[in-house]
Amino acid sequence: MRKKIVAGNWKMNTSLSEGVALACEIDRLVKKNKINHETGIIIAPPMTHTALINMVIDNDRICIAAQNCACKEEGAFTGELSASILKSAGCKAVIIGHSERRAYYSETDEILKKKVNIVLTNKLRPIFCCGEQLEERKKNNHFEIVKNQIVNAIFDLSKNDFSKLIIAYEPVWAIGTGVTATAEQAQEMHAFIRKIVENKYGKIIANNLTILYGGSVKPTNAKEIFAKPDVDGGLIGGAALKADNFYKIIREA
Ligand code: PGA
Repeated sequence: MRKKIVAGNWKMNTSLSEGVALACEIDRLVKKNKINHETGIIIAPPMTHTALINMVIDNDRICIAAQNCACKEEGAFTGELSASILKSAGCKAVIIGHSERRAYYSETDEILKKKVNIVLTNKLRPIFCCGEQLEERKKNNHFEIVKNQIVNAIFDLSKNDFSKLIIAYEPVWAIGTGVTATAEQAQEMHAFIRKIVENKYGKIIANNLTILYGGSVKPTNAKEIFAKPDVDGGLIGGAALKADNFYKIIREA
């Protein structure tokens, strides 16, 4: 059966010392409270922190992800980080297509498709994000928008490659706003995503696919959202910046 995962996206927050302290505290809480080993734990700190954090946590228990990667393999791309560089710094996964990347850095489906491919070629796991804007939901276009994001960026993958993906459904209107999708709204979209994956890749791959919900998940609402049958954990922003909150959310998965 598919794995439950809780992933923390730290975005552009924490100094190096704060980040190391946060990671150490998460590691301590997870060990002390003997969190169920069935639940995968991922943290995505700023890239500068990754190598150091990797040395101080139990990386059999907590995986490090990058928040982005270049759509090129290597070379003269000042300021970019390739998937192989991320891997050499200890990353096991890469968040691809977060709505902030789509909105502020003009990442199109085409670019995301390249990134997903490069991440897979380097034997890292893509955490592919999708989700609609508020106006799109108001017009009742949310299913179509999410379907297009998925079809355009990841439906050319082979079955074998697709089976390595994690999908994160993150309605843009719920990210960082304090407004969470209701558990029913999350379940409805997750079931829809699983259905289109089943139609394309078959029942086994669809059933094994981990689909995370993201958007204002907190210790107080995680239980209800994670209890839905097609919600397999969460991608957590703000609440991942406090070890205690993040740990409480992990406990609910
Ligand atoms: P949030 O962010 O939990 O702060 O809403 C989620 C995300 O952007 O992944």
